Amino acid sequence: MPVDLSGPLRSEFEKAREAYEKARGEGNSQRASEQAAKCARLLRLLADNIPHEHRFYLDKSKKWEDLARSIKEKGLREPREPEGDVRPPGLEFRDYIEGLISISEVTWADIGGLEEPKRLLQETVVIAAMKRPEAIKPWTGILLYGPPGTGKTLLAAAAAGSLKATFFNISADKVLSKYFGESSRLIAALYEVALERSPAIVFIDEMDALTLSRGGDSNEASRRTLSTLLSQIDGFKSKKSQRLVLTLAATNTPWDMDTAALSRFSRRIHIPLPGAGDAVKIVKLNTSGLDTSQVDLNSVARECHAGLFSGREIAYLCQEAVWNMIRQENPNLAQLSPLSFDELRGKTLKTRALKNSDFHAALGKIKPPLSQARLAKYSQWASDFGG
Ligand SMILES: Nc1ncnc2c1ncn2[C@@H]1O[C@H](COP(=O)(O)OP(=O)(O)OP(=O)(O)O)[C@@H](O)[C@H]1O
Ligand SMILES: [Mg+2]
Repeated sequence: MPVDLSGPLRSEFEKAREAYEKARGEGNSQRASEQAAKCARLLRLLADNIPHEHRFYLDKSKKWEDLARSIKEKGLREPREPEGDVRPPGLEFRDYIEGLISISEVTWADIGGLEEPKRLLQETVVIAAMKRPEAIKPWTGILLYGPPGTGKTLLAAAAAGSLKATFFNISADKVLSKYFGESSRLIAALYEVALERSPAIVFIDEMDALTLSRGGDSNEASRRTLSTLLSQIDGFKSKKSQRLVLTLAATNTPWDMDTAALSRFSRRIHIPLPGAGDAVKIVKLNTSGLDTSQVDLNSVARECHAGLFSGREIAYLCQEAVWNMIRQENPNLAQLSPLSFDELRGKTLKTRALKNSDFHAALGKIKPPLSQARLAKYSQWASDFGG
């Protein structure tokens, strides 16, 4: 397989463009011309690296070449913008964006507990979809924050599933690294497509990656991407309210988000670890179709709660318990592996009611990653900034 160099090349291009802009700002025409020429070279390499975008990058490269020459000959007097797309914005990213779309089959009934967050989201979705007076403005950007595995992605998927909305599931981290330097345009294009395909839910996971205040070295590209994203979210609030495009963002580290970004997500919903009551519901969802009447679900749920299990760990726990039962009932499963698919089809897996012992054996195997100290950090943040 050919090596995909487009990420590093884009990143190099972005650096050269920033150097160009800096030199231009300083009135250093020689350096500006050199950097513009470098941009042209990098775009040419990009053209060779991305066959289906060949023409696009080649045209762009020529523009930068012309610019470099013009600066060399006439200095910086001519006020010329190096960018200027030869295609309508968005088109070059379309394949990628289409790849982000999924149809969500998740419903509200697939979520155990989380009654309050569920209700808030249900209300938001319903209000946003209904005909309503001008003055009533639904939330268009909502932040879901909380420990890993608590159901944030599940909630976003259920919101999309219930509306049969186009569901864009993107990870800020991946978009930033893949389209470094161009992710701001990618976001703009994403919202164009979302609008075309409304009702749509744009789910941005790892939102903190886009807004990090860590280390102070947040780069120009991610700042641009963030401001594009925030203006898109706001944009739907004002003009295009009859079309529903709802942005849901999620983070495990809300304290890493900068205040400007936070202020745009004025609706923030804490998605906590399940309490014992919710844990029972999650166990039931994850063992549906099996007999659990002999299991002391309350005691299992108490163990989950005491062990700081998230919904994800409870799901693993159930899976382990079910496996324990299956292995006991079907001791020679591995020996059947030489059989053909059709021969296996003719056999039926033996099952029995689940027992407490299946769960007890499983409990020892699940190691939740969370500490009390970490958990306290979420509660503290929720009382300081959550809303
Ligand atoms: N409230 C819940 N009800 C039912 N299942 C749950 C619940 N919470 C978590 N799960 C189970 O855990 C899995 C992970 O949940 P999800 O992906 O929504 O977590 P998340 O909060 O998005 O985690 P992360 O922050 O790591 O992305 C789900 O696929 C589901 O099996
Ligand atoms: Mg998630």
